[in-house]
Amino acid sequence: MEIQIIKGDILKQSADLLVMGTYEQENTKNPFMETLNVALHGKLLKRMKTSNFEGKVGQQLLLPAPDMMDVDYVLIVGLGPMMQGAADAARQASGIAVQTAKKLGLSTIALEFLGEDDDQFDAHAVAQGMVEALLLADYDFVLYKETAEIAVITSVTIVAEDGRDAMKARRVLDDTTHIADGVNVARDLVNTPAGDMTPTRLAEAAKEIAKTSDMISLKILDKKECEKLNMGAYLSVAEGSEAPPKFIHLTYTPTKKAKKRVAIVGKGVTFDSGGLSIKPSNSMMTMKCDMAGSATVLGLFATLGRLQPSVEVHGIIAATENMINGKATRPGDIVKASNGKTIEVLNTDAEGRLTLADALHYAAGLEPDYTIDLATLTGACVVALGEEISALHGNDDELNGKILDAAKRSDEDMWLMPLPSRYASQIKSDIADLRNIAKTRYGGSLTAALFLQNFVAEGMKWAHIDIAGPAFAERPIGSYLQKGGTGYGVRTLARFLKDL
Ligand code: BES
Ligand code: ZN
Ligand code: ZN
Repeated sequence: MEIQIIKGDILKQSADLLVMGTYEQENTKNPFMETLNVALHGKLLKRMKTSNFEGKVGQQLLLPAPDMMDVDYVLIVGLGPMMQGAADAARQASGIAVQTAKKLGLSTIALEFLGEDDDQFDAHAVAQGMVEALLLADYDFVLYKETAEIAVITSVTIVAEDGRDAMKARRVLDDTTHIADGVNVARDLVNTPAGDMTPTRLAEAAKEIAKTSDMISLKILDKKECEKLNMGAYLSVAEGSEAPPKFIHLTYTPTKKAKKRVAIVGKGVTFDSGGLSIKPSNSMMTMKCDMAGSATVLGLFATLGRLQPSVEVHGIIAATENMINGKATRPGDIVKASNGKTIEVLNTDAEGRLTLADALHYAAGLEPDYTIDLATLTGACVVALGEEISALHGNDDELNGKILDAAKRSDEDMWLMPLPSRYASQIKSDIADLRNIAKTRYGGSLTAALFLQNFVAEGMKWAHIDIAGPAFAERPIGSYLQKGGTGYGVRTLARFLKDL
């Protein structure tokens, strides 16, 4: 899909589908809608009334275009109340535009720029939201379809009435396109079935990404090398699988002097059966998504060569499967992590924290200014915040603030949760340093975060994002994210890094 942004009159465009926005209760009061209504002999207003179209976000009205226009269909999309959440409304409306074009098999779209730059609106934010939603809504997972019956949208022209808006919008087009491409890389990785998306395949994906830029280098540690580094917690998870573990370390080095060094750690459990503490089949059904944190790291690295932030970035993934065989870790076994701490594994389904323990300790060795991990870590987090909001736990208010701000600007919902030291006793073991599950089943996302904190070095600024809810959509989210992997976190992290 080619996107261009021009200054012009939306009603004078040639396209298969023309898309215009209208605010709540605005009806045909804006000049473009008025002109369109006249051209349609009053049918626009009439159809708005009969179909109860009020201009709310998510509402849409499709009409055949009037003869005077070089367009097949006109789509009117609701933008909600004027002056409120303009960028998010523009995202939803842009997603609807793509969905409609796909459904009707249309290949070109002319889309009104859905907001003017003034005191209330920021043309950058609106353009970023629109471009991102267009590219994300255009995504389809077709790798396993022999005959893909997907309509291809070849071009979208965003038309701004004001030349300055068009210019401002054009400034964010490239970066936003790079970021959306990275999100779609992550979605492909998550959507690929676990039988194919093994740790080795994940390492190959990292190799391909490293090849795309001179600024990215890659180190892959095999099982033997991880043994040398005493990564006993991580390797205990890999023990039950035929698929060899791969520890992936990507490095992005900017050409100019780096302002900061950041480590991003992603949970890379390519399939989580639960191990001997086996999951019920319904819970196992979507567990190919348990490498979503690592997919986010790889999606992010796929953007870095083009986005070129002025920070050094390390992407760290302790990739493994969590399976069952005669060598699988038993509940009650004690394993030793690379920082020397021993862990009583009372539930082999709490495996993510075991892999992250060694990955975080490895990250600490790089002495980063900030360390952020992303993990589909706990069902408890989904119980607490639902399927669309991630949980942020961190030990540094400034870092938390920066991440939350980037998430907000990216339309990725995130909620700050505590790291309460009073619950630390929940994960103390009687016979080892730690136990991998808490003594009660309450506050599971908190106790998991507290567990991870044991592998964060003294004074290290760290944040943990539990993405168990939003990483994988069991049904579409809003208008621009289909069912399946969402690539959650790529947008937030890309903007976080760019703005450091
Ligand atoms: N991968 C799961 C968490 C998960 C749940 C991810 C739902 C995505 C959607 C994780 O490894 C797990 O099984 N966690 C256990 C921990 C428990 C045994 C303390 C859980 O949440 O049930
Ligand atoms: Zn598990
Ligand atoms: Zn897991």
